[in-house]
Amino acid sequence: MASVEAVLNQRLAAAFTTMAGEQLDPAVRRSQHADFQADAALALARKLGRNPREIAGQVVERAMLDDVCSATEIAGPGFINLTVRNEVLADLVTQTAADERLGVLPAENPDTVLIDYSAPNASKEAHVGHLRSTIIGDATVRLLEWLGHTVIRQNHIGEWGTPFGMLIEHLLDIGEAEAAHELSVGELGSFYEAARKKFDSDETFKDRSRRRLVLLQGGDELSLRLWKVLVDESKEYFLAVYDLLDVRLTRDDFVGESFYNDQLASVVEELDALGLLQSSEGTRCVFPAGFTNRDGEPLPLIVMKTDGGYGYDVTDLAAIRYRTRELNGTRLLYVVGLPQKTHFQMVFQAARDAGWVTPPMEVEHVGHGSILAADGKILRSRAGESVKLIDLLKEAVTRAEEQVKIKNPELDEDTAAAVAQAVGIGAVKYADLSTDRTRDYVFDYDRMLSFDGNTAPYLQYAHARIQSIFSRAESSPEDAVGPIAVNEPAERELVITLLGFEDLVHELSDSLEFHRLCAYLYGLATAFMTFYERCPVLRAENEFRASRLALCAATARVLAVGLGFLGISTPNQM
Ligand code: ARG
Repeated sequence: MASVEAVLNQRLAAAFTTMAGEQLDPAVRRSQHADFQADAALALARKLGRNPREIAGQVVERAMLDDVCSATEIAGPGFINLTVRNEVLADLVTQTAADERLGVLPAENPDTVLIDYSAPNASKEAHVGHLRSTIIGDATVRLLEWLGHTVIRQNHIGEWGTPFGMLIEHLLDIGEAEAAHELSVGELGSFYEAARKKFDSDETFKDRSRRRLVLLQGGDELSLRLWKVLVDESKEYFLAVYDLLDVRLTRDDFVGESFYNDQLASVVEELDALGLLQSSEGTRCVFPAGFTNRDGEPLPLIVMKTDGGYGYDVTDLAAIRYRTRELNGTRLLYVVGLPQKTHFQMVFQAARDAGWVTPPMEVEHVGHGSILAADGKILRSRAGESVKLIDLLKEAVTRAEEQVKIKNPELDEDTAAAVAQAVGIGAVKYADLSTDRTRDYVFDYDRMLSFDGNTAPYLQYAHARIQSIFSRAESSPEDAVGPIAVNEPAERELVITLLGFEDLVHELSDSLEFHRLCAYLYGLATAFMTFYERCPVLRAENEFRASRLALCAATARVLAVGLGFLGISTPNQM
């Protein structure tokens, strides 16, 4: 289905292109002065050395917009203001509302998308950085699946490497049962700290840890079994967090670092055969093209350490080879904090150098900023240690429950609990996703749980409010199919916003800038509230009533689908 912008763009592009003698984007966008505005006459005039108003006038004439626009106007230095005909809006929105996918076609060329996200470390407490990756990754999964891509989730947890020598020894000290208990309830942080303390202060413990690591990496059976206890209990904890957070990650999606162990030797071999391996200070490295430090020296990815051991870099090389070669990924996404930007750019380049990543395959680091406490520092618990994710989420739900009970004391216990869950978790996710993902943001319960402003509760409430219109009408949104008429200014505003959904979703699937979707949904909810204030729905005459009910239903669906992309549920009553 064509959006209004697309129709206008198409007509104007043809006219502009004839005048410019080359392809030209008319740059149609929403405007406060009319429905839409096109600015391209200004740049074209500069290029041709002519008067922009004159050019704009000629473009409008050539574009023959009468069937689409009820008014066109040349404003200021040469802006083209466009007012769309009510009938055109009405037709488009009626079609959109009747369409199961709200006018959004599935992707024409579906990708096999590999999404690397969440990826906490089994040896340490998962921190808020992992929360962010989990939330953004989950939204990416939901959006791309909805668009018809094949999505493969990869939870690249850190469950291999040097800390495990010391962690296994600590486990032996306190006993398997106690260790399993601590880890399964998410005491990863204190378990790690306790082991670390002994490691730093006790020489015999340090020795034992080193020997244990050698045993583990050599495949010793007991060590492997104990390692598995540690990892399995951590996984249980991560799964509990995912469950509470309502994200789609499952047990099957754990493809941690250890998964690549038996591929590492072959990666080294292949890189060597390609002539990409170099020795440097006892290590073996690749130097991906184009990466240098401040002094202009090439930067290495370490493929093999001095002691012959493997690490983070080579594991990622193995992973990218596996994902392209075995899983046939055509689009590889890594949702990981921005501090790892260089690491990923280097891994991607090395994979290109090795011929594992070839056009038109896409690889992208979907980098994100941090979550901060109110004082601008990294979020910590009151006691000063790192916050347990599960507690953070539970607290959001508890606070949401207080809010919900004040807002609607009539809800029964069960409904109130379910609503609190949706609102609390929704608020945490929305606070994250509504921030430009490359920026940091402050974690603030009061703000995210507010029923006013650009928050999840505001949008969920707008959705629930529409449902309540239908219960008062004693009808259901599914039966409200229109046709939709467009007359009042508030109706036009709402309809034009609704019709912007399609372009937004397609743009989002490239940029993965979810804050744009949030801004859109907030704008939609606001436009709805204005419409609802100004245009009677239930009290309107027959066909107006049917039309406005259909508009309400379409709004509710766009809200629900849009929030659904963000992993936020929309209770019918609040
Ligand atoms: N476990 C890593 C960390 O906590 C993140 C892993 C990201 N994914 C990857 N393929 N390296 O920093």
